[in-house]
Amino acid sequence: MLVLIDELAELGATSLRGTFGDEAGQRIGVASSQVADLQTASAMQLAKKLKRNPRELAEVFAAALFTHPAVARTEVAGPGFVNIHLHDAWLRDAVSQAASLRQVGTGQTVVIDYSSPNVAKPMHIAHIRSTIIGDALKRVMRAVGYTVVADNHLGDWGTQFGKLIVAYRKWLDPQAFEENPVSELLRLYVKFVELEKQQKAELGKKNQADEGDDGAAADAPPILKEARGELVKLQQGDPKNVALWKQFIDVSMHEFDRVYRRLDVNFDVVLGESFYNDQLAGTVQTLLDKGIAEESEGAIVVRFDKATDGDALPPFLIRKADGGFLYGSTDVAGLLYRVGRWNASRIIIVTDERQQLHFKQLFATGRRLGVPASMEHVWFGLMRLAEGTISTRDGNLIGLETLLDEAERRSLEVARQCNPDLTEEEAREVARVVGIGAVKYNDLSKDRTTMVTFSWDKALSLTGNTAPYLQYAYARIRSILRKASDQGISPGKVTNLEPTERILVRKLLGFDEAVEEVSKALRPHVLCEYLFELATVFSTFYNELPVLKAESDVRASRLHLCERTGEVLKHGLQLLGIGVVERM
Ligand code: ARG
Repeated sequence: MLVLIDELAELGATSLRGTFGDEAGQRIGVASSQVADLQTASAMQLAKKLKRNPRELAEVFAAALFTHPAVARTEVAGPGFVNIHLHDAWLRDAVSQAASLRQVGTGQTVVIDYSSPNVAKPMHIAHIRSTIIGDALKRVMRAVGYTVVADNHLGDWGTQFGKLIVAYRKWLDPQAFEENPVSELLRLYVKFVELEKQQKAELGKKNQADEGDDGAAADAPPILKEARGELVKLQQGDPKNVALWKQFIDVSMHEFDRVYRRLDVNFDVVLGESFYNDQLAGTVQTLLDKGIAEESEGAIVVRFDKATDGDALPPFLIRKADGGFLYGSTDVAGLLYRVGRWNASRIIIVTDERQQLHFKQLFATGRRLGVPASMEHVWFGLMRLAEGTISTRDGNLIGLETLLDEAERRSLEVARQCNPDLTEEEAREVARVVGIGAVKYNDLSKDRTTMVTFSWDKALSLTGNTAPYLQYAYARIRSILRKASDQGISPGKVTNLEPTERILVRKLLGFDEAVEEVSKALRPHVLCEYLFELATVFSTFYNELPVLKAESDVRASRLHLCERTGEVLKHGLQLLGIGVVERM
C-alpha cells in the first residue's frame, strides 16, 4: 500500500503546485482510514499556510487523486478531509504482493547495540528485554533494506573485576565453579559486597569514635583497597590478573551463548567495553582539544546548556579525578568507532529506562563532536513478574533459562490441549516454538515505554493479543490449505470481494506500513498490533464465509486470501523473532 500512498501524495503535491504556485507544492499526508480506504487531512493544515478555505484545497486534491488508476472515487468530507475509495480490481491485484516490503534502508548502515549483559552476572531481566527488542529491530531493519551491524556491547570492564579477582582467590569453591561458573562468580561477588559493607560500617563507628565527625574522613574498607590494587594490576596488564579476567569472560560468554542459541539471537560483533580501552585517552583528549570537555575539580566533564544542546542536562563525567575512565568514556569512543568503522547513519542503543539521562548526555556530546549519525536510545520499562510467576532467588533477578524452561513446560500442556493427536515429538516442537514465542511476544507486544508485568496465563493464552493466538491462526490456515491440497484444490486468482473479504484484503495491504513504522519509530508493538488485527479480521472472514465448501471460483479466490494471510503472519512473526508450526 505504501507505493500507492506515495504516488497519491505526489499527485496531491503536483496539483497544489499547479493551482497555487510553487510555494504550495509540499507533500500531502495520505493514510489508511476507517471511513474510506485512504484519507488525507492535509487540506486543513495547508489551508492555514495558504490562507485559503480548506474545502477549496480539498476539492483540488479530490480531483487530482481521482485521476490515479487505482482510485474509484474521492469525496470531500467534513471541514476538508478527502476520502479515497480504491477500485476492487486494484485491491485484488495488489494483494498477491502483500508480504513484500519496500527497501527504504538500502545503502544505509545501522548499528544496533543490544543485549549487552555484564560479565560474571547472570542475564538480568532487563538484558532479556533488550535482547528480544533489539533482535526484533535488527530483523525489521534488515527486512527494509538496511545493512545492520548487531553489536553486543558486553559489560566486560570496570571495578567489579578487582572485586571478583580478590573474591576468587579468597573463597572460590572449585567444584561449584566447575558445575555452574556464573552462579559461583555471582556468589563470590555478593560475598565480597557483604564484607565490604560490614567493614565500612565498622570503620564508620571507629572514625566517629576517633574524630567525632560524620565519618567523612573514613578510610576505604581494607577489602576494597585490596580490590583496587588488583584492578590497577589488571589495567597494567598483569598476566595473572588478565588470565583470570579472560576466564571470567569466557565462562560468562559461554552461558550467554547458550541463551542466545535458544532464543535464535545472533550478533555480528561482540565489542565489549574493554575493546575501547586503548581509545579512551585519545577520545578524552579530543573532547578537551575541541573545547567540548573541561576540567572540574580534577575530573573531566562535558557541560551542557539549554541554548546549544536543547536540554539543560547535568554535567557528563568522562574521566574521574583519579584518572580512571568510566562507562561514559567508553560510550563516546563507541560512537566514534561506529561511525568510523561502519559509516553508520543510525546508531541505536537498547537499554532499560534507567539509562535515559546517560544517553541524553552521550548523544549531546556526540552532536558536539559532529557525529554524523542519528543517535537513538530505545528504552523500555522494566518487566515485573506477577505474583507467583516463578520463584526467584532475589526479587527481580531471574535466570532467563528458568523462565524459558517453564515456558516450554507450560506450552506442552497448551499443545496437548489444542491437539491431542500430535505425536510426542511434534508436541515438544510446538511447545518449544510456542513457549519461546510467548516469552518474546510478551515483551514486544506492549509499547516498550510501559512497564510489563509478566504473567503465564496472559502470555500463553490462546485468545487475545498473544503469540500462541497468532501461531494458532497460522497453523489453522495451514491446515485449511493442506485439506484443499488433499482434495486436489489449489488457490487461484482473487476474483471475489464481498465486504468481509475486502476488509481482509485492506488489512493484508497494511503490512508494509506497519513494518516501516517499526523501522522508523523503533516500536515493535506496532507490528504486533497489526498482526493481531490481521488474525482477528481473518477469523471473522473464516467464520462468516465458506472456503472449502464454496463453489469453485470463489473457493480458489478465498484460498488465495488464506494463503496470503498465512504468509503475512509468518513473515511478520519471523520479523519479531518468533517461529510458527505447521500444525498445533
Ligand atoms: N552493560 C550495560 C548494562 O547492563 C548496557 C550497555 C548498553 N550499551 C551501551 N553502549 N552503553 O547496563
